[in-house]
Amino acid sequence: MSLFPSTTVSVPEYRGIPRHIAIIMDGNGRWATSRHLPRVAGHAKGVEAVRATVEACARRGVEFLTLFAFSSENWRRPADEVSVLMRLFITALEREVSQLQANGIRLRVVGELSAFEPRLRELITQAERRTVANTRMTLTVAANYGGRWDLLQAMRAALREHPEMAQQPEQLTEAMLASHLAMAYAPEPDLFIRTGGEQRISNFLLWQLAYTELYFTDAWWPDFDAAALDRAIESFQQRERRFGRTSAQVAATAAT
Ligand code: IPE
Ligand code: IPE
Ligand code: MG
Repeated sequence: MSLFPSTTVSVPEYRGIPRHIAIIMDGNGRWATSRHLPRVAGHAKGVEAVRATVEACARRGVEFLTLFAFSSENWRRPADEVSVLMRLFITALEREVSQLQANGIRLRVVGELSAFEPRLRELITQAERRTVANTRMTLTVAANYGGRWDLLQAMRAALREHPEMAQQPEQLTEAMLASHLAMAYAPEPDLFIRTGGEQRISNFLLWQLAYTELYFTDAWWPDFDAAALDRAIESFQQRERRFGRTSAQVAATAAT
């Protein structure tokens, strides 16, 4: 059994502050281009927005914050941009982990990490180890992550664990599959935010976003701050999360 039941199987309890926020941090390149700066200047500035968002989420009592930093498809970018992104990731891990530790934040990195250079992999392992006991908030960075990659590796892992399932596929359950996803340690996101104006999922958490509230803003990621976060949370708080039920049923549950 997975730790958190799927939202298509049971309905999570409502709380005012989303328990889990997942963000596609988009618009770094356009932020820079609009200022006649090289695209990578936008990525550097984006790191500052990450810092501010992590702090703001922790202060507001968000339990899980998940940030999409590099997709399986981002390798298609020019080699020099990819290389700067890797450098920035390394620098951020070297510089920021102490602050995470001081603030009681646990770091997890999910994705196909074998594609990264050894130094980066080593820093990721060290940072995860160092912050493992922290309980205030879990910050997940999705790096070389793709929702399809995740589903595929989960199915492979489930089959490896239960090879007999290949003959009896009906044994495979939602809970079993979910327990092998890279983020099986977290409940599904309550709120998804995408900055940068595009309205798409771009191969992010395909399984987990099934019942997530989606919020899109035109703000470019480097301009995202605590006030922008609060606007997204306010929008979330006005939604009625029905999970397949009727409004009357939702109201009756809330009254009890
Ligand atoms: C998001 O910003 C950062 C990454 C994908 C790494 P972009 O680099 O995609 O910025 P735009 O979309 O080109 O403006
Ligand atoms: C999505 O942004 C991935 C990350 C933010 C890491 P992209 O800018 O790569 O998305 P698409 O390709 O425009 O959909
Ligand atoms: Mg983009």
